Amino acid sequence: MACTDNLVSFGQRVNEFLKRKIESLPDEPQELKQAMAYALLQGGKRVRPYLVYTVGREFNASIYQLDYPAAAVECIHAYSLIHDDMPEMDNDMLRRGQPTVHAKFGAATALLAGDTLQALAFDILTDAGCTIAGEVKAQMCACLAQAAGFVGMCGGQALDLKAEHHKLTQAQLEQMHSLKTGALILCAVKLGYMTARYQDAYNNAQGDRMSQAFGFVEQPQLKREQELLTTFGKKLGLAFQVWDDVLDVAGDTATLGKTVGSDVANDKSTFVTLLGLDGAKQYATALAQEAKAALAQLPCQSKELAAFVDFVVTRDH
Ligand code: IPE
Ligand code: IPE
Ligand code: MG
Ligand code: MG
Ligand code: MG
Repeated sequence: MACTDNLVSFGQRVNEFLKRKIESLPDEPQELKQAMAYALLQGGKRVRPYLVYTVGREFNASIYQLDYPAAAVECIHAYSLIHDDMPEMDNDMLRRGQPTVHAKFGAATALLAGDTLQALAFDILTDAGCTIAGEVKAQMCACLAQAAGFVGMCGGQALDLKAEHHKLTQAQLEQMHSLKTGALILCAVKLGYMTARYQDAYNNAQGDRMSQAFGFVEQPQLKREQELLTTFGKKLGLAFQVWDDVLDVAGDTATLGKTVGSDVANDKSTFVTLLGLDGAKQYATALAQEAKAALAQLPCQSKELAAFVDFVVTRDH
């Protein structure tokens, strides 16, 4: 399947970039560097970098410029996983088929590795070697910071912890999933797009037509494509976490690389607890259809991304 080929090749591309970045760091403190490398370079599907690259390429962004946001978003993701697995959160011992970072390096180093990866994301996004215009980089930093923080991943993780031993409504669960996982996936879509369109606007008008938010409100055709991409990213992000809930129940630990049944053990609120296994699968499929309907209205009508949406709600890992 074409989509899977690109997931592999873009994954390799971002891995090389991240490997060089880690290698360029000083050797000491050695344990912290090892923990960062362990969290960042040992497997993972590279879904978020794939989205940065694929959306960016659909809008003709430079692949060399896309390397930076692709790597940055993966650093935030890797940090989120380290902290998510810690005893204070999900208390998981297996990630990507290996002991979790806190299990291997201890809690203090795990905390610091997460913190350092978060900082590294913004270091990469503002790298002087990246030829994206400074004004565009600043907007990309704001986009990533918001997706990672209170109104994004961290806020969603707080809701997730608060929801343990409680039953949420569908609307509450949607909000929690959209924040803890959806925000970073939507951000990956936006960063790919911004690398293309914001950079174009900067080149054409030295940046004065760029609005603060995700948009060029005075250009109707761009407003429309941004709305469609936002719908695509939101539906895809929610579908991704609904399917993650499904895999926690219906997956296989060896294939998944994380311990099946973690959500049940922690008495989490998930779409499987709300809708049952079949109901959650059907809901993920319906969200995937909505994501593809938005895609189909974009000028590029990306078959690559449509195939990726199908992958998200059929994957076994
Ligand atoms: C797992 O994300 C955590 C969620 C946000 C659902 P991924 O399924 O993308 O994990 P890796 O990076 O492939 O290991
Ligand atoms: C994690 O959701 C979301 C994050 C922000 C890391 P989960 O807790 O379900 O992710 P997994 O199943 O541990 O990968
Ligand atoms: Mg969690
Ligand atoms: Mg977890
Ligand atoms: Mg999960």
